[in-house]
Amino acid sequence: MDPQNESVVGEFILLGFSGPWELQIFFFVTFSLIYGATLMGNILIMITVTFSHTLRSPMYFLLGNLSFFDMCLSTVTTPKMITDLLTEHKTISLWGCMAQMFFMHLFGGAEMTLLIVMAFDRYVAICKPLRYRTIMSHRLLSGFVMLSWIIGFIHTMSQMVLTINLPFCGHNVIDSIFCDLPLVIKLACIETYTLELFVIADSGLLSFICFILLLVSYTVILITVQQRSSTGLSKALSTLSAHIIVVTLFFGPCIFIYAWPFNSFSGNKILAVFYTVITPSLNPLIYTLRNQKMQEAMTKLWSQHVSSTET
Ligand SMILES: *[C@@H]1O[C@H](CO)[C@@H](O)[C@H](O)[C@H]1NC(C)=O
Repeated sequence: MDPQNESVVGEFILLGFSGPWELQIFFFVTFSLIYGATLMGNILIMITVTFSHTLRSPMYFLLGNLSFFDMCLSTVTTPKMITDLLTEHKTISLWGCMAQMFFMHLFGGAEMTLLIVMAFDRYVAICKPLRYRTIMSHRLLSGFVMLSWIIGFIHTMSQMVLTINLPFCGHNVIDSIFCDLPLVIKLACIETYTLELFVIADSGLLSFICFILLLVSYTVILITVQQRSSTGLSKALSTLSAHIIVVTLFFGPCIFIYAWPFNSFSGNKILAVFYTVITPSLNPLIYTLRNQKMQEAMTKLWSQHVSSTET
């Protein structure tokens, strides 16, 4: 490899969605609506749990932060993808591409950690109800949120320090809607086999292990509830099923993308849309539509707001 030839690639081309312009317009409208709904839904949840007096439980504190991560995760990729639908030359600069990967894995790693914390929260709430408030103190909760940021940061840095210095000198076409590690690494003009394996372990295997652990812990919680009483079961089941749906929607695409990333597989773009556009919009829906307390708190806040503007 001639060192003088290195890093001649200054930008990447994102192929995005191909198809007739009618289809591109359709995607543009659909994704814009979904993205708008994601922002509004998640902001509404954050406002409600911050200002409502009835949602003082630790679960809502964590839920507010989950909404924040969801909003950030979707903002890293969706606006760029939406505007790309209307442009002829879908390019992204080298640094834009690196930034996209950095933030995606920062918020992704943080959200992954927070989902585990939320499972722990449910475990304490259901299996140790009398000590719930003492165990889940405000200090511990803030510590957990801080931990999520730290783990997200370590997770993304560990992969980015190895990616940022890769030489790119020939191919610069990415057949996806945003920059993501497996696809970008493949374009480097040196041997990247070890790095590819590292990314599979750091993103793919890690998601897989977390997913299995979460499913096991939710099962343990359900079994514990069932042994205790049959009336408690239906209530726990409705909260826990919301959590299990969210966890599956988040980890499912991650596992598919990172655990089988290096053989091109045509469903990749759809999965990419799923976990950056669809999943972040579903969390607010799942938590609010199924949660009566949340709906009451929102209505109450809204009526307080209306009456305070009238007087
Ligand atoms: C998220 O966590 C931070 C830091 O612990 C906390 O101050 C904040 O209130 C939480 N956000 C929401 C919306 O609950």
